[in-house]
Amino acid sequence: MTAAVPRTRVAGTIAELRAVVDERRAGGASVALVPTMGALHEGHLALVARARELADVVIVSIFVNPLQFGPGEDLDRYPRTLDADLAALDGLGVAAVFAPTVAEMYPGGAASTRVVAGEVGSLYEGASRPGHFDGMLTVVAKLFHIVRPDVACFGQKDAQQVFLVNRMVRDLDFPLAIEVVPTVREADGLALSSRNRFLSADDRRAALALSEALRAAEAAGPQGVEEVLAEADAAFGAHEAVQPDYLVVVDPATFLPVEPGATGEAVVLVAARVGSTRLIDNARIRLG
Ligand code: PAF
Repeated sequence: MTAAVPRTRVAGTIAELRAVVDERRAGGASVALVPTMGALHEGHLALVARARELADVVIVSIFVNPLQFGPGEDLDRYPRTLDADLAALDGLGVAAVFAPTVAEMYPGGAASTRVVAGEVGSLYEGASRPGHFDGMLTVVAKLFHIVRPDVACFGQKDAQQVFLVNRMVRDLDFPLAIEVVPTVREADGLALSSRNRFLSADDRRAALALSEALRAAEAAGPQGVEEVLAEADAAFGAHEAVQPDYLVVVDPATFLPVEPGATGEAVVLVAARVGSTRLIDNARIRLG
């Protein structure tokens, strides 16, 4: 018996990928891009499913982008599981996976030209991971230029990333739409993440502190931001193995912290180290 060969086409170079896209575009097809760093899980597959609804041709990129990892971060241990990723995408109607090497994406070494994420890029995730969002936006801008999609799908799980990508698209006039897909969770509330695989059984239980903090925040919303922070903080601090990084309530329009007494829509962002793994999560809540 011969092993099943994944049918998803893999383009390792920009030229190969462009050939696939150009051919389909010449036939009038619209194109959706799902940018990923691989280690695909159901959250990524939800992005692919949404992309299929929005366009004729779906391209998935799989590239662990060194530019968005700082010194001492988990670039080396970030899971690289291309064969399993291709198997997961098999049969989902993906026209091609773009899986370039680092040299293909950054032929001159560390890219000399970068997108600058600005003030919001230095807050929350950006404060803990300096340069992360400049690196993320740089690779996303490159992917947009390489694929030239009509729409690109991102997960709500990375709320700050989504905010910054939307702002880059607006500020730099990229001609495409951004589609935001809800976070996929385990039955007990844990948001799916490629990094969850690093959690021990104990860490996995402790990691629920993030989604529990968000639930507490949501319930306290009508009582205002101070109560939201107090309730969420109590839930967040309830697990010994959890080292909270930040817990903040932001205005979805500016991504800056809301003022005391604010009412209306807000986003609660949480981040923590659980064991050796850094996790983030967020939820939309209503204040007042
Ligand atoms: O969300 C991710 O996986 C990455 O930040 C992205 C958007 C693929 C850019 O490397």
